[in-house]
This record gives sequence, C-alpha cells and structure tokens, in this order.
Amino acid sequence: MGKNKDFPLGAGRNQKTRVKSARGRRSSSTRWLHRQLNDPYVSSARSAGFRSRAAWKLIQLDEKAQFLSHNARIVDLGAAPGGWSQVLSSRIKSGNIVAIDVLEIEPIAGVQIIQGDVSERGVSGTIVEALGGCPDIVLSDMAAPTTGHRQTDHLRTMNLCEIALDFAIENLNRGGTVVAKVFQGGTQSSLLAGIKPLFENIKHVKPAASRKESPEIYLVAKGFKKR
Ligand SMILES: C[S@@+](CC[C@H](N)C(=O)[O-])C[C@H]1O[C@@H](n2cnc3c(N)ncnc32)[C@H](O)[C@@H]1O
Repeated sequence: MGKNKDFPLGAGRNQKTRVKSARGRRSSSTRWLHRQLNDPYVSSARSAGFRSRAAWKLIQLDEKAQFLSHNARIVDLGAAPGGWSQVLSSRIKSGNIVAIDVLEIEPIAGVQIIQGDVSERGVSGTIVEALGGCPDIVLSDMAAPTTGHRQTDHLRTMNLCEIALDFAIENLNRGGTVVAKVFQGGTQSSLLAGIKPLFENIKHVKPAASRKESPEIYLVAKGFKKR
C-alpha cells in the first residue's frame, strides 16, 4: 500500500476517532461506525471521488496481477454503487464497459449500466449484446449481504462466485481473464480444481484494502483456453 501514490498515507492514520455508544444504537452499529470513521480507505475513497472504498481493491488487484488493458471489453458483475466501474471508466479508453447489479447504479461516463440479476436466465445474452461481443475480462465483486453466520455467508458468496465463473466460461474470449471475489476455506478448493484446466494461470490475491479479518480474497484467472 505504501507504494500506491494514489493513496494518501495521512499522518493522522494512527489517531483513532472514538465512537461513544449511544442509547438505542446497537453495538454492531457502533462497531461499524467506529470502523468507518477510522478506515483510511473510506476517507481516501471519498476524497478521490470514488463511490466506494472497493475502488482501491480493483486498483491494487491490477497493480498485483496486471489484467486491465485499454481496449478490452469488460463486464463488472455486482457493480453497485460503482467504485470499480469508476476505475474502469478512467482507465479503459477505447474498449467497452458494462456494469450490472440488482441495485440501481448512478450513471458513470463511458459505462453502460444494466439493472438486473446475473443469475437470471437471459441476462448473459443481454450483457454480451450490450458489450457488442464476448468479453475479454469478467470482473465479479458480487456479494450477498452478510448474516454473521460464517458458513451461510461462505456458501452464499461462493454461489455468486460460481455464477460469475459459469458466465465467464460460457462467454469469455480466448486468452481472456476473470477476476472474482471468493471466501477462503470450505468450497474454495473444489471450485479452483474445476477451473484449473481452463486457464493458463490462476492465482489468489488479497488486496491491502480488503480487511484482514474478512475471509474475502480474489481469484485471478488469466489465459482462458476456449475450446
Ligand atoms: C461488494 S458490492 C460491490 C461493490 C462494487 N465493486 C464497487 O466498487 O462499488 C457487491 C454487490 O453485488 C451485488 N449482487 C449480489 N448478487 C447479485 C446478483 N445475483 N446479480 C447482480 N448483482 C448482485 C449486490 O447488490 C452488491 O451491490
């Protein structure tokens, strides 16, 4: 993170803002507020004009794995509120970007937005049509709202990851890349075994902006071997 010139490492990083617990506020809300107020990625995302701190994750993933290219056709699955798509909009000059989410996304220059559920029949076709052809890069930061129950959260996120991988395997151009959020442990190794023969190179990357306590990690699979 120290190497990232986009990220202002403020002198006040160690000066924590304390949140007094208020009557009527649940302790989980107090913890969330405390984390938000003391998270350097939240404030730097705001000052950089990003809609979410997740934007830093895509920047750091690309620093580590180098998959973004100027003229690619890219789809951003689970894109709301739009941090990743903002990064894509500033970096992809002559390609084509499509962002999709079940939630509404405010317009982003150079990004076609679809409101829909990636798991629904027919949505794949809509995405490919909007892209003007098959994607070169499939990105998925899809996540279900967490329940706090570890196993349930794991299974729900891994299911979304499988949906993203199925979309990628069905649609990616030869040589293409997929980057997808996974949760460590559990079904992660069987999912990996399933896609291993289909890509030239697969690795897992944990960007610095991904909270240490989170099981989240990103699978980066490059060089799709289209049959
Ligand atoms: C962590 S957020 C994405 C943040 C985003 N990358 C950014 O930079 O702002 C995960 C998103 O996945 C979306 N999502 C979950 N399941 C989905 C599905 N089946 N189809 C489309 N979007 C989905 C959620 O609505 C949520 O907005």
